[in-house]
Amino acid sequence: MSPFHLTRTLPEDATEAALRADVLHGLTATPKTLPPKWFYDAHGSELFEKITELPEYYPTRAEREILVSRAADIAAATGARTLVELGSGSSDKTRHLLDAFGGLRLYVPVDVSESALTQAGRALVAERPGLSVHALIADFTARLELPDTPGPRLLVFLGGTIGNLLPAERAAFLSSVRALLAPGDALLLGTDLVKDEEVLVRAYDDAAGVTAAFNRNVLAVVNRELGADFEPGAFDHVALWDAEREWIEMRLRSRTEQTVKIPGLDLAVEFAAGEELRTEVSAKFRQEGVWAELAAAGLRPAHWWTDGEGRFALSLSVVP
Ligand SMILES: C[S@@+](CC[C@H](N)C(=O)[O-])C[C@H]1O[C@@H](n2cnc3c(N)ncnc32)[C@H](O)[C@@H]1O
Repeated sequence: MSPFHLTRTLPEDATEAALRADVLHGLTATPKTLPPKWFYDAHGSELFEKITELPEYYPTRAEREILVSRAADIAAATGARTLVELGSGSSDKTRHLLDAFGGLRLYVPVDVSESALTQAGRALVAERPGLSVHALIADFTARLELPDTPGPRLLVFLGGTIGNLLPAERAAFLSSVRALLAPGDALLLGTDLVKDEEVLVRAYDDAAGVTAAFNRNVLAVVNRELGADFEPGAFDHVALWDAEREWIEMRLRSRTEQTVKIPGLDLAVEFAAGEELRTEVSAKFRQEGVWAELAAAGLRPAHWWTDGEGRFALSLSVVP
């Protein structure tokens, strides 16, 4: 078997059925919503990589700083033989872990973006002889099945992506992660932390407009996949801080009153002028909250590491 191996856990028509269900449900709801996983076609994945390099987008740099300083501690604490990563994207920061684990033979990245998995997986096997990459195209919010791999396993979930799940979804997700793991396995979780509103909003509304293009890309995905006639330029990008729920919301605000046709669903969607469609929630966390959520899922939090400015945290939990 080649050292790079890509598996689709669901047939392509199941992905299309999921998009149809999400669009139908989300665009006929009040207020209108779409789940963030649909941002990530090949273009959306490229735009996300550009976001990670923006001066305003601190989470990637802060999380990398923690990984650089703690990767050896993580390797020593877990002794993992397989690294599984959910929402792995470019797997760029993961390289710090792969370096620290030295003899690790198997990396299992899991993502909805086939282009990101293929690019990252091919690059990793080319640069690391001895490493096999078994990539899975899968939705981590659906029932996940991992290949039978040598333990102990370290399951990694970086980028603060857990913040894109609503509280009830997070609880279900963490329980399903716990169910995938065996005693002696561990979870490494990246969480963005509550901070000054201005810093947070700027991270989701950059001066160059890359996040705005990423946000509008979901409309291009619905156009391509379901034949819709969204005009992405007819929607403004909005990022705002909800201080009560402690999350950032990204929205698309209709500039005018307009009707969007979605032939693939036999649907016409009315937007009032100024009406907003919520495309992403990005929750920000505090240590007490993260530890309580991990414990509620049956995991035992063991380490909490932050970057020097206290902007982002990595927590390591073990399966008792
Ligand atoms: C915010 S990005 C983080 C990427 C990378 N882990 C990082 O830290 O830079 C979220 C990643 O999760 C993937 N993703 C989003 N929703 C997903 C889902 N429901 N199932 C699997 N992957 C998902 C996206 O394709 C993207 O690669």
